[in-house]
Amino acid sequence: MRRLTVELANRGYDILIGRNLLSQPRLIADCLRTPRTALVSNTTVSALYRDTLESGLRSLGIEVTPVILPDGEAYKTWESLNQIFDALLAARCDRATTIIALGGGVVGDLAGFAAASYQRGVPFIQIPTTLLSQVDSSVGGKTGINHPRGKNMVGAFWQPKLVLADTDTLQSLPARELSAGMAEVIKYGLIRDLPFLEWLEANMDGLMARDGELLAQAVERSCANKAEVVAADELETAKEGGRALLNLGHTFGHAIEAGMGYGEWLHGEAVAAGTVMAAELSCRLGWIARGDVDRAVHLLRRAGLPVRGPGLGAARYLELMSHDKKVIAGSLRLVLLKGIGHAVTSAEAPAREIAAAIEACCDA
Ligand code: NAD
Ligand code: GLY
Repeated sequence: MRRLTVELANRGYDILIGRNLLSQPRLIADCLRTPRTALVSNTTVSALYRDTLESGLRSLGIEVTPVILPDGEAYKTWESLNQIFDALLAARCDRATTIIALGGGVVGDLAGFAAASYQRGVPFIQIPTTLLSQVDSSVGGKTGINHPRGKNMVGAFWQPKLVLADTDTLQSLPARELSAGMAEVIKYGLIRDLPFLEWLEANMDGLMARDGELLAQAVERSCANKAEVVAADELETAKEGGRALLNLGHTFGHAIEAGMGYGEWLHGEAVAAGTVMAAELSCRLGWIARGDVDRAVHLLRRAGLPVRGPGLGAARYLELMSHDKKVIAGSLRLVLLKGIGHAVTSAEAPAREIAAAIEACCDA
């Protein structure tokens, strides 16, 4: 088992990464304030992994209130949040009850927001079961739900007490979801870790074949990168750079997700096409070479990801991008590359260059 720590003064926590961790309930028990938990999952993940986790916890005398939600991004809503609150209140869960999220980023974001607000905040443990959630969403404390007017528009920062990433769960993940998670893995290489990018180039075939040891290494290196960024800028308030750098490709990607209708493109797929747009724009600004753009495109392709966006038209992209959470006082800040392996936040790109980069990276 690998152990990393997110260094956040009195809110720091461990990330445990390894095989067969779901069958080791003592790892969770050691983090509980009282032997009382609520286990939030969805129908798909619950059918695969709930029995192992729940029976292990019960064998240690830990009470478990299960809350099983419908599966899908479409359910990251107030209604699901209320379903969690209803179940917690019906079971008379108190302020020391620990909420455990078992699932991907949707379950983790929902359960985390419930933990942040139930009785003004209860302890929370993340057990991520998708690649995306193991390398990104379970670490760093961003929680929330979608609003009809925008993704993740309502939420809170609420750090977990523990992240338990059992890499065996990745074996049951649909291929499309594995690829989607790989977009966020590649992101760390592009924004701040060139040696990791080179390692990914050397090992992408083995990773896509789900070699357990390679996947564990990729999860560990990704989490190490994320933990460092979060520790330096937990609330994403740095004026330049900081946690916002984790959003490479996301502003373009969110436009794709919203423009196509949520659920049509997976988050990671949209991020992949958006990453190519960000790289193209960086190249047009003279910040990276054409060969660097090609290098990013090649690696994303090998991970089974789309590298061209849908043809929504540049004007529609720009309109959707204007709702981004990185817009401050009407000015759109983008995450761009100033050299491969080095990202910056920038409001410098002229709108006509952004539009040209989008058009160059979209299907007709
Ligand atoms: P997801 O949670 O929808 O999971 C993808 C699919 O895989 C679902 O159908 C799920 O039921 C299924 N699944 C999960 N684990 C499985 C397993 N081991 N085997 C088989 N099937 C499994 O999607 P995701 O990609 O994990 O997360 C996307 C969400 O994460 C989005 O809502 C996004 O906004 C959010 N997100 C949050 C952060 C953050 O920092 N909080 C960061 C990135 C993304
Ligand atoms: N996924 C971006 C962040 O956690 O900040």
